[in-house]
Amino acid sequence: MNVLVVGGAGYIGSHCVRQLQVAGHTPIVLDNLVKGHKESIPAGVSFHEVDLADSPKVIEILKSEDIDIVMHFAAFIEVGESMQDPLKHYENNVAKTISLLKSMREAGVNKFVFSSSCTVLGEEAEPPFNETMPLRPISAYGQTKADVEVILDYCTKAYGMSAAIFRYFNASGAAEGGIIGEDHSPETHLIPIAIQVALGQREKMMVFGNDYPTPDGTCLRDYVHVDDLSRAHIAAFPLLEEKGRLLTYNLGTGTPASVLEIIKTVEEVSGRPVPYDLAPKRAGDVPSAYADSAKAKSELGWTPQYGTIRSIIETAWAWHQSHPRGYEDA
Ligand code: UFG
Repeated sequence: MNVLVVGGAGYIGSHCVRQLQVAGHTPIVLDNLVKGHKESIPAGVSFHEVDLADSPKVIEILKSEDIDIVMHFAAFIEVGESMQDPLKHYENNVAKTISLLKSMREAGVNKFVFSSSCTVLGEEAEPPFNETMPLRPISAYGQTKADVEVILDYCTKAYGMSAAIFRYFNASGAAEGGIIGEDHSPETHLIPIAIQVALGQREKMMVFGNDYPTPDGTCLRDYVHVDDLSRAHIAAFPLLEEKGRLLTYNLGTGTPASVLEIIKTVEEVSGRPVPYDLAPKRAGDVPSAYADSAKAKSELGWTPQYGTIRSIIETAWAWHQSHPRGYEDA
């Protein structure tokens, strides 16, 4: 399959590009490089530096590259920013996705894979989260993902296109070999921040809240390896052959880890201390979020290959150790 990877120079997109190659597909990267890193694109992969708002160009690429499937990873992901500047997130995450879907219709491409987030389920959901729970996001970011999920429901019914929605829990880790990895600016995620402390780039970190109703009082999250996420997406391709299909899957290991467990594991893997201070709770954090991925397991035959938090953190550590300044060191 010729697969257009929109946001293919970003964290999850770049890992998916590699996994597409492993599976024998031909990835073609489209990225405006606002967040993505050109250095993450493998040599020999066709790359188009284009914004999704440039519909004539997107249509031309869809046709000239003979695209079979579009995978859409390009989104702004910072929850705090989405509350301060919601229009920025709606424009990028919703309006540009609509532009992409219209371009696909124009070019006659009707298979779509979309990056969503467990955050569409909101704070009332009780873990483990399955796919039958209602959409109740509590941030503008989460709402943009939920909006696209609803748009895809209508589009699959109206236009005969088929789509797979994947809701990630906490995407983490890096490809084996330490060539590509996580490089966000600003970095807000727990594992890379703990690793930055281990590397001496930060003096210490903050633990946001320690009186949650969890075993050690810190939040529980479901950290899932970025290559495992990519493999689930690719496993859905055959199911998209049927027109009008809408598939939704929650992707996680189902085994949560607490903030303190993550810090301890980073200390063990790196062999270095990770000092922290206790800080007030971060707005919008739920005590516990982890996946029921039984549907992905039964329908896609998907099982995460990285089953332990240590195995995930080892890959993240290898990347950050060899690229302490991210892609500046590539
Ligand atoms: N945390 C800290 N200190 C830090 C950073 C995080 O204690 O310096 C805690 C958070 O409070 C939370 C846990 O670590 O309890 C995980 O936080 P992350 O920011 O790594 O991840 P989230 O669960 O908040 O975010 C996840 C994804 C985001 C996505 C969000 C909503 O990683 O990309 O869900 O979908 F935007």
